[in-house]
Amino acid sequence: MEAKQGVLEHLNKILTGELTAVHQYVAHAAMCENWGYERLHHALQERAHDELDHARSLVEHILYLDGTPDLQTVNPLTIGQTVPEQFQHDLVLEMEVLTLLRAAIAHCTQVGDFTTRHKLEDLCVETEEHIDWLETQQETIKQVGLENYLSEQIKK
Ligand SMILES: [Fe+2]
Ligand SMILES: [Fe+2]
Repeated sequence: MEAKQGVLEHLNKILTGELTAVHQYVAHAAMCENWGYERLHHALQERAHDELDHARSLVEHILYLDGTPDLQTVNPLTIGQTVPEQFQHDLVLEMEVLTLLRAAIAHCTQVGDFTTRHKLEDLCVETEEHIDWLETQQETIKQVGLENYLSEQIKK
């Protein structure tokens, strides 16, 4: 199926965001493992898998639209040197992806590509869930203190 004007450009931009998220979560998950935060390591590794699924579904859809998925481009990573820094950087990245998704959804509505719009709406829901999880971690740290939060993360 041939893509409507501008749709492939939007999809590849989102793909770059998802691939960047894969790399960043893999890095943060590995750092947490190295620090001994097993629980957090597993949560972030699972998140990296979610992002890989998002990237894969975009690649498949770009191919379906007879486009060329850009798997070469990854944005510079923002690596946190502490757990709260990691959460903050991941939150910024998720927000950036959400902004791209919303712009792409608006574009799809404009050009009448409702199949792509539907796919992007699904990604939006999952991105919002990721944002919600990060905000919950930040709020929990605020309430119980960083030491208490981190001591809970040592458990499997
Ligand atoms: Fe994602
Ligand atoms: Fe995400």
